[in-house]
Amino acid sequence: MINERVIIALDFSNRKDALRIVDELDDLVNFYKVGLELFLSEGVEILKTLKNRGKKVFLDLKFHDIPNTVEKAVKASLSYEVDMLTLHSLGGFEMMNRAKHVVEKAKTFQNTQLKILGVTVLTSLDNKTLTEIYELPINANSLVKNLAMLSKKAGLHGVVASAVEVAEIKKHCGKNFIVVTPGIRLEKLSNDDQRRTVTPKEAFLLGADYIVIGRAVTSTKNPAEAILNMFT
Ligand code: C5P
Repeated sequence: MINERVIIALDFSNRKDALRIVDELDDLVNFYKVGLELFLSEGVEILKTLKNRGKKVFLDLKFHDIPNTVEKAVKASLSYEVDMLTLHSLGGFEMMNRAKHVVEKAKTFQNTQLKILGVTVLTSLDNKTLTEIYELPINANSLVKNLAMLSKKAGLHGVVASAVEVAEIKKHCGKNFIVVTPGIRLEKLSNDDQRRTVTPKEAFLLGADYIVIGRAVTSTKNPAEAILNMFT
């Protein structure tokens, strides 16, 4: 396996397209992200199919609800043996803490490897949008740091964050606190600084534990070649 720390996002509306990518990358990638689109199109069957093929699954449904509801959703996800799932850290300490306890309890009677990750601040929300929401001057960077620390305190295994935030998060939450980084492009483009995208190599150099790559690999003519060229 070329890299256990690369997660390919299966952002498709049907299993045929998703499994075509899984087939093409069979010897190269072992970890796949199922998000809202594929999950709502194909349901839990796609999770079962991926697990039956021996793949690791990152279920990215970004739970955000009252603690009781999220606790039960996490409990329900245990049936599918997914390896990672996401919830919004903005759901607060109790919501995250109860999710973590579901996993801790499950460990006593099943061999779950489930890691729960918090989504801190979506990169689509900038300072202006956040200030509009909260009616207060909000700094996205310090909110990311605060939410990462709250996620750690609540017992989550890590967070999803952009590569440029990794160092600050590791500084405050420790090096074992997992950071999964999306926003990856295979080549540096001239306007990338603005978009805050990074290449796979850069993301790992900045300290990311896992990278999530979607279209940069799945929309190319030859996804396997894109993966093979990634670290050379
Ligand atoms: O842009 P790309 O196709 O590589 O995105 C792959 C996945 O990463 C998408 O499923 C998207 O939900 C997620 N993503 C994210 N935050 C970003 C960019 C992408 O969570 N800033």
